Amino acid sequence: MPINIAIDGPSGAGKSTIARAASKRLGFIYVDTGALYRAVACHMLSRGISADDEEAVSAELAGLGEDYFSLRFIDGVQHVFCGEEDVSDKIRTPEISMGASNVSAIPAVRKYLFELQRKIARENNIIMDGRDIGTVVLPNADLKIYLTASAEERANRRFKELSAKKDCPPYDKVLADIRQRDYNDMNREIAPLKQADDAVLADTSELNFEEATELVLRLIREKIG
Ligand code: DC
Repeated sequence: MPINIAIDGPSGAGKSTIARAASKRLGFIYVDTGALYRAVACHMLSRGISADDEEAVSAELAGLGEDYFSLRFIDGVQHVFCGEEDVSDKIRTPEISMGASNVSAIPAVRKYLFELQRKIARENNIIMDGRDIGTVVLPNADLKIYLTASAEERANRRFKELSAKKDCPPYDKVLADIRQRDYNDMNREIAPLKQADDAVLADTSELNFEEATELVLRLIREKIG
């Protein structure tokens, strides 16, 4: 049986960098499920469909084949595709972040992506990160971690990342966006972000990247030996 580790938590808690590093150390595949929601948002925006228009998004999805969005692993690195287009880079903008948060509240979107995530988990040793991995996608995961940090600390980290790019928004806007996405993700009706009852809480507010990665690796090794 493949080993499945679920990591959930709010935006900017460091899930993806930490899970990627831990997966590499363990020889596991790292699956970033947020990229799928981002790819859906990217597709909708490119078609002029508003990410919060449930009816239009659902109708557009229904017209796409079930393999239209896919994750492919090239040299152990995840790439996300819309059809045959690799959109891995272009989904990392603040506009797509907000769009992904909006499409992720639409039941047809979650249903569409559910089986894809389950299939990857059935076939591989993985660390999968997202919002509902421990609660919905992999309720029987070998280990569930809820990784979080204060909103201010998460905004600090995101602001530093964005400062390297052009058109960096001011810190207050980054913090407001984080709070808005937390609210959206935690209060949506379907599969809201929350800590699973059997998840271990890991708060990284006071930890640097190496310390947080070591913490996650220790939790995994304690569990799977
Ligand atoms: O992790 P991320 O920032 O790339 O995720 C983008 C959005 O997708 C986020 O606002 C919430 C949503 N998401 C989700 O609802 N369920 C998941 N398993 C992963 C992401």
